Amino acid sequence: MSKLRTAVLGAGGIVGQRFCEMLSSHPYFDIPDIYGSERSAGRPLSEVVILPEHRIGEELLQMKMKALTEEAVKREKYDVIFSALPSDAALRFEEDLCSSGNRVFTNASPNRMKPNVPLVVPEVNHEHLSAVEGRKGFIVANGNCSAIGLAMGLKPLERFGLRSVEVTTLQALSGAGYPGVPSLDASGNVIPFIDSEEEKLQQEIPKMFGNLASGEILPSGIIVRATCTRVPVRDGHMESVTVQLGQAVTFPEVADAFSSFRSLPQELSLPSAPLRPVILRMERNRPQPLLDVNAGEPFSARGMAATVGRLRVEGSTVRFVILTHNTIRGAAGGSLLNAEIMHARKVL
Ligand SMILES: NC(=O)c1ccc[n+]([C@@H]2O[C@H](COP(=O)([O-])OP(=O)(O)OC[C@H]3O[C@@H](n4cnc5c(N)ncnc54)[C@H](OP(=O)(O)O)[C@@H]3O)[C@@H](O)[C@H]2O)c1
Repeated sequence: MSKLRTAVLGAGGIVGQRFCEMLSSHPYFDIPDIYGSERSAGRPLSEVVILPEHRIGEELLQMKMKALTEEAVKREKYDVIFSALPSDAALRFEEDLCSSGNRVFTNASPNRMKPNVPLVVPEVNHEHLSAVEGRKGFIVANGNCSAIGLAMGLKPLERFGLRSVEVTTLQALSGAGYPGVPSLDASGNVIPFIDSEEEKLQQEIPKMFGNLASGEILPSGIIVRATCTRVPVRDGHMESVTVQLGQAVTFPEVADAFSSFRSLPQELSLPSAPLRPVILRMERNRPQPLLDVNAGEPFSARGMAATVGRLRVEGSTVRFVILTHNTIRGAAGGSLLNAEIMHARKVL
């Protein structure tokens, strides 16, 4: 079967580079073009790559970035577009590209909360993808990187009833893009505020756990209270979570819910699906970003698993720490897995 013609927008950024890494030699997607701003147009990707030990193929590394214009993208007639644009550029381009019949999988925030845009974490609410089936052009959004991690920790507990969640995040520097937080602010420091981040977590989780009705998503009643902090870690968002469930549970029940959790991407054996989407660790000092950020097997799903640890259960209150790779599971890999589901369903 021929591969889908695919473009990456914002390819030179941190998330764009992750897309290029995960799409190098992908069985479904072929990348004829990568796009950047006017500033990076004409430069080969190799000149801007900052990911250590990356696995971007030589052909993509030597590819020159094109300047992103609506006309250029429309002319090329792509089957799929992955967007790693910052908010302002996403606002300028994504809706127009969708209106002209393009299928856009975005990581940017501006379109996430629109009722006709599914906000999908593949293992959590893949059924929301059916909201766009049959449309010529559409946008499928990824959540905020911490919201994605939190959703993966909540999904296995949904069967016990999700009432409310208190979460404190410890978010990595790469979450702010490149060059991100100034080094003098970041090193040896913790910043107890990230602009607009808490609101995103509080709004996005109810949408992800909502019900699809007549092509729109009705948010669930789950209450989320968030405190978001930036810590001097390169990659990996850690979150300390307290969940109030609708019923009393035991430690073995909750441990089993995390360990046995599987979803559609695993059933379909998709290329970027981790065999175990949630890995429960019993050691008292795990997860740690340095040790666990790249969790996920097979190798093509490296960084796609969430790691849960510090599990504590008391009546209907469950506490745990969860770690996810913010630019893989929390960004490029999440979008890619959504597209892989739609490819498997023959929507793309
Ligand atoms: N970093 C994360 O962990 C993370 C996680 C989830 C979601 N996101 C979201 O993903 C998006 C990308 O984030 P990032 O961390 O990769 O940011 P980034 O490192 O700042 O990269 C953004 C890239 O977009 C390019 N760009 C800017 N304006 C453009 C335009 N008009 N046309 C084409 N390209 C343009 C920039 O190119 P130039 O260098 O040429 O300006 C840059 O390479 C953002 O919306 C962010 O909120 C990020």
